[in-house]
Amino acid sequence: MGLLAVIGGSGFQHLGGLEVVSTEQPETPFGPVSAPIVRGELAGRPVLFLARHGAGHRLPPHRVNYRANLWALHACGAERVVGLAAVGGITAAFGPRVIALPDQIVDYTHGREHSFHDGESYPVHHVDFTDPYCAPLRAALRAACAVAGVPVVATATYGATQGPRLETAGEIARMERDGCDLVGMTGMPEAVLARELGLCYASLAFVVNWAAGKGEGAIAMAEIEGHLAHCTGPVERILAALAAAA
Ligand code: HPA
Repeated sequence: MGLLAVIGGSGFQHLGGLEVVSTEQPETPFGPVSAPIVRGELAGRPVLFLARHGAGHRLPPHRVNYRANLWALHACGAERVVGLAAVGGITAAFGPRVIALPDQIVDYTHGREHSFHDGESYPVHHVDFTDPYCAPLRAALRAACAVAGVPVVATATYGATQGPRLETAGEIARMERDGCDLVGMTGMPEAVLARELGLCYASLAFVVNWAAGKGEGAIAMAEIEGHLAHCTGPVERILAALAAAA
Protein backbone atom coordinates (compact mmCIF):
# COMPACT_ATOMS: atom_id res chain seq x y z
CA MET A 1 0.00 0.00 0.00
CA GLY A 2 1.09 3.60 -0.56
CA LEU A 3 2.89 6.00 1.76
CA LEU A 4 0.91 6.65 4.95
CA ALA A 5 0.43 10.12 6.43
CA VAL A 6 -1.10 10.95 9.79
CA ILE A 7 -2.71 14.30 10.56
CA GLY A 8 -2.63 14.82 14.31
CA GLY A 9 -5.21 16.99 16.04
CA SER A 10 -5.88 17.74 19.70
CA GLY A 11 -3.59 15.63 21.87
CA PHE A 12 -1.34 14.76 18.95
CA GLN A 13 1.14 17.56 18.35
CA HIS A 14 3.67 14.76 17.93
CA LEU A 15 3.22 11.09 17.18
CA GLY A 16 4.61 8.76 19.84
CA GLY A 17 6.76 6.01 18.36
CA LEU A 18 7.61 7.99 15.22
CA GLU A 19 11.37 8.14 14.67
CA VAL A 20 12.00 11.43 12.93
CA VAL A 21 14.16 11.29 9.81
CA SER A 22 13.66 14.83 8.44
CA THR A 23 11.20 17.71 8.34
CA GLU A 24 10.09 19.71 5.33
CA GLN A 25 7.81 22.67 4.77
CA PRO A 26 6.73 22.63 1.13
CA GLU A 27 5.57 25.81 -0.58
CA THR A 28 1.96 25.47 -1.66
CA PRO A 29 -0.21 27.56 -4.00
CA PHE A 30 -2.62 27.95 -1.08
CA GLY A 31 -0.29 29.43 1.53
CA PRO A 32 1.50 27.91 4.50
CA VAL A 33 0.94 24.44 5.97
CA SER A 34 0.04 24.26 9.67
CA ALA A 35 3.49 22.97 10.62
CA PRO A 36 6.53 21.35 9.00
CA ILE A 37 5.76 17.88 7.68
CA VAL A 38 7.71 15.25 9.59
CA ARG A 39 9.13 12.36 7.60
CA GLY A 40 9.87 9.44 9.86
CA GLU A 41 9.57 5.76 10.58
CA LEU A 42 6.81 4.11 12.55
CA ALA A 43 7.12 0.38 13.22
CA GLY A 44 10.01 0.45 10.76
CA ARG A 45 7.87 1.82 7.92
CA PRO A 46 8.01 5.29 6.33
CA VAL A 47 5.28 7.59 7.63
CA LEU A 48 4.56 11.32 7.30
CA PHE A 49 3.14 13.34 10.18
CA LEU A 50 1.52 16.78 10.23
CA ALA A 51 0.22 18.64 13.30
CA ARG A 52 -3.10 20.07 12.11
CA HIS A 53 -3.22 22.91 14.62
CA GLY A 54 0.45 23.86 14.26
CA ALA A 55 3.11 24.28 16.90
CA GLY A 56 1.63 24.92 20.33
CA HIS A 57 -1.92 24.30 18.99
CA ARG A 58 -2.05 27.90 17.74
CA LEU A 59 -4.58 27.40 14.90
CA PRO A 60 -8.27 27.02 15.80
CA PRO A 61 -10.29 24.63 13.60
CA HIS A 62 -11.75 27.39 11.39
CA ARG A 63 -8.30 28.87 10.69
CA VAL A 64 -6.51 25.65 9.72
CA ASN A 65 -5.30 25.90 6.11
CA TYR A 66 -6.79 22.56 5.07
CA ARG A 67 -6.03 23.11 1.38
CA ALA A 68 -2.34 23.76 2.02
CA ASN A 69 -2.08 20.80 4.39
CA LEU A 70 -3.62 18.26 2.01
CA TRP A 71 -1.83 19.66 -1.02
CA ALA A 72 1.54 19.48 0.82
CA LEU A 73 1.01 15.90 2.03
CA HIS A 74 0.15 14.91 -1.53
CA ALA A 75 3.26 16.71 -2.80
CA CYS A 76 5.36 14.82 -0.23
CA GLY A 77 4.15 11.53 -1.68
CA ALA A 78 1.34 10.58 0.69
CA GLU A 79 -1.20 8.20 -0.79
CA ARG A 80 -3.09 7.25 2.39
CA VAL A 81 -4.05 9.76 5.09
CA VAL A 82 -5.42 9.07 8.55
CA GLY A 83 -6.99 12.13 10.18
CA LEU A 84 -7.01 11.84 13.97
CA ALA A 85 -10.12 13.34 15.53
CA ALA A 86 -10.91 14.09 19.17
CA VAL A 87 -14.72 14.20 19.20
CA GLY A 88 -17.77 14.58 21.39
CA GLY A 89 -20.15 11.61 21.64
CA ILE A 90 -23.82 12.13 20.78
CA THR A 91 -25.51 8.72 20.63
CA ALA A 92 -25.46 6.06 23.36
CA ALA A 93 -22.72 3.85 21.90
CA PHE A 94 -20.23 6.74 21.81
CA GLY A 95 -19.34 7.56 25.39
CA PRO A 96 -15.97 8.97 26.43
CA ARG A 97 -12.91 6.88 25.45
CA VAL A 98 -14.74 5.00 22.68
CA ILE A 99 -12.65 4.70 19.52
CA ALA A 100 -14.57 4.83 16.24
CA LEU A 101 -14.07 4.64 12.49
CA PRO A 102 -16.66 7.02 11.00
CA ASP A 103 -18.19 6.01 7.69
CA GLN A 104 -20.35 9.07 7.04
CA ILE A 105 -20.16 12.85 7.44
CA VAL A 106 -22.69 15.63 7.86
CA ASP A 107 -21.04 19.01 7.25
CA TYR A 108 -22.19 22.04 9.29
CA THR A 109 -19.06 24.14 8.71
CA HIS A 110 -19.15 27.41 6.80
CA GLY A 111 -16.79 30.00 5.40
CA ARG A 112 -13.85 27.62 5.06
CA GLU A 113 -11.85 27.20 1.85
CA HIS A 114 -13.36 23.82 1.11
CA SER A 115 -12.44 22.94 -2.48
CA PHE A 116 -9.52 22.95 -4.89
CA HIS A 117 -12.05 23.07 -7.71
CA ASP A 118 -12.96 26.72 -7.23
CA GLY A 119 -12.68 27.58 -10.93
CA GLU A 120 -9.37 29.38 -10.32
CA SER A 121 -6.82 26.88 -8.99
CA TYR A 122 -8.48 23.94 -10.73
CA PRO A 123 -11.42 23.81 -13.18
CA VAL A 124 -14.95 23.29 -11.88
CA HIS A 125 -15.52 19.64 -10.99
CA HIS A 126 -18.14 17.91 -8.83
CA VAL A 127 -16.34 15.10 -7.06
CA ASP A 128 -18.33 12.03 -5.91
CA PHE A 129 -18.57 11.97 -2.11
CA THR A 130 -21.27 9.33 -1.53
CA ASP A 131 -18.92 7.41 0.73
CA PRO A 132 -16.65 10.12 2.12
CA TYR A 133 -14.00 7.84 3.61
CA CYS A 134 -11.69 5.39 1.84
CA ALA A 135 -13.05 1.86 2.38
CA PRO A 136 -9.70 -0.01 2.08
CA LEU A 137 -8.09 2.30 4.65
CA ARG A 138 -11.05 1.93 7.02
CA ALA A 139 -10.72 -1.85 6.68
CA ALA A 140 -6.98 -1.66 7.35
CA LEU A 141 -7.62 0.50 10.43
CA ARG A 142 -10.18 -1.98 11.69
CA ALA A 143 -7.67 -4.80 11.27
CA ALA A 144 -5.02 -2.69 13.03
CA CYS A 145 -7.39 -2.18 15.98
CA ALA A 146 -7.73 -5.96 16.26
CA VAL A 147 -3.95 -6.44 16.12
CA ALA A 148 -3.46 -3.70 18.74
CA GLY A 149 -6.17 -5.23 20.94
CA VAL A 150 -8.20 -2.00 20.96
CA PRO A 151 -12.02 -2.28 20.78
CA VAL A 152 -13.47 -0.09 18.04
CA VAL A 153 -16.92 0.90 16.80
CA ALA A 154 -16.58 0.35 13.08
CA THR A 155 -19.30 2.71 11.81
CA ALA A 156 -20.40 6.18 12.89
CA THR A 157 -21.69 9.40 11.37
CA TYR A 158 -19.40 12.36 12.07
CA GLY A 159 -20.95 15.83 12.24
CA ALA A 160 -18.45 18.59 11.48
CA THR A 161 -19.17 21.88 13.27
CA GLN A 162 -17.57 25.27 12.83
CA GLY A 163 -16.19 25.91 16.32
CA PRO A 164 -14.19 27.07 18.06
CA ARG A 165 -17.02 27.17 20.58
CA LEU A 166 -18.65 23.94 21.61
CA GLU A 167 -22.26 23.36 20.52
CA THR A 168 -25.49 24.21 22.32
CA ALA A 169 -27.65 21.36 23.61
CA GLY A 170 -30.20 22.36 20.94
CA GLU A 171 -27.64 22.04 18.17
CA ILE A 172 -26.62 18.60 19.40
CA ALA A 173 -30.30 17.52 19.58
CA ARG A 174 -30.67 18.64 15.96
CA MET A 175 -27.50 16.79 14.96
CA GLU A 176 -28.84 13.64 16.60
CA ARG A 177 -32.06 13.99 14.57
CA ASP A 178 -29.82 14.37 11.51
CA GLY A 179 -28.22 11.00 12.29
CA CYS A 180 -24.91 12.17 13.76
CA ASP A 181 -23.17 9.97 16.35
CA LEU A 182 -20.07 12.11 16.81
CA VAL A 183 -19.26 15.81 16.70
CA GLY A 184 -15.93 17.38 15.86
CA MET A 185 -14.62 20.56 14.26
CA THR A 186 -11.95 19.48 11.78
CA GLY A 187 -13.32 16.56 9.77
CA MET A 188 -14.40 18.92 7.00
CA PRO A 189 -13.16 20.13 4.62
CA GLU A 190 -10.20 17.82 5.32
CA ALA A 191 -11.98 14.71 4.03
CA VAL A 192 -13.30 16.24 0.82
CA LEU A 193 -10.00 17.92 -0.06
CA ALA A 194 -8.30 14.54 0.28
CA ARG A 195 -10.92 13.08 -2.07
CA GLU A 196 -10.38 15.87 -4.60
CA LEU A 197 -6.66 15.03 -4.67
CA GLY A 198 -7.33 11.30 -5.04
CA LEU A 199 -5.92 10.54 -1.59
CA CYS A 200 -7.25 7.57 0.35
CA TYR A 201 -8.47 9.26 3.57
CA ALA A 202 -10.03 7.88 6.76
CA SER A 203 -10.77 9.29 10.19
CA LEU A 204 -9.70 7.64 13.44
CA ALA A 205 -11.95 9.23 16.06
CA PHE A 206 -11.76 9.01 19.84
CA VAL A 207 -14.45 10.34 22.14
CA VAL A 208 -13.23 12.82 24.77
CA ASN A 209 -16.58 14.07 26.16
CA TRP A 210 -20.31 13.66 25.97
CA ALA A 211 -21.57 16.29 23.52
CA ALA A 212 -23.51 19.27 24.88
CA GLY A 213 -26.68 18.22 26.72
CA LYS A 214 -25.72 14.52 26.71
CA GLY A 215 -23.73 14.50 29.92
CA GLU A 216 -24.13 16.11 33.31
CA GLY A 217 -24.11 19.92 33.08
CA ALA A 218 -21.45 21.94 31.29
CA ILE A 219 -18.54 20.34 29.45
CA ALA A 220 -15.37 20.62 31.57
CA MET A 221 -12.01 21.03 29.84
CA ALA A 222 -10.39 18.96 32.59
CA GLU A 223 -12.70 16.08 31.70
CA ILE A 224 -11.78 16.37 28.01
CA GLU A 225 -8.08 16.40 28.83
CA GLY A 226 -8.39 13.32 31.04
CA HIS A 227 -10.14 11.28 28.35
CA LEU A 228 -7.73 12.58 25.70
CA ALA A 229 -4.74 11.43 27.74
CA HIS A 230 -6.33 8.01 28.10
CA CYS A 231 -6.84 7.66 24.33
CA THR A 232 -3.28 8.58 23.29
CA GLY A 233 -1.74 5.16 23.95
CA PRO A 234 -4.42 3.07 22.20
CA VAL A 235 -4.46 5.41 19.17
CA GLU A 236 -0.66 5.21 18.85
CA ARG A 237 -0.80 1.41 19.07
CA ILE A 238 -3.42 1.31 16.30
CA LEU A 239 -1.30 3.55 14.06
CA ALA A 240 1.82 1.44 14.68
CA ALA A 241 -0.13 -1.70 13.74
CA LEU A 242 -1.47 0.04 10.64
CA ALA A 243 2.01 1.11 9.56
CA ALA A 244 3.44 -2.35 10.25
CA ALA A 245 0.75 -3.99 8.09
CA ALA A 246 1.57 -1.93 5.01
N1 HPA B 1 -17.90 19.31 20.00
C1 HPA B 1 -17.13 19.62 18.93
N2 HPA B 1 -15.87 19.24 18.79
C2 HPA B 1 -15.36 18.47 19.77
C3 HPA B 1 -16.10 18.12 20.90
C4 HPA B 1 -17.45 18.55 21.02
O1 HPA B 1 -18.17 18.26 22.00
N3 HPA B 1 -15.28 17.36 21.69
C5 HPA B 1 -14.09 17.29 21.03
N4 HPA B 1 -14.13 17.95 19.87
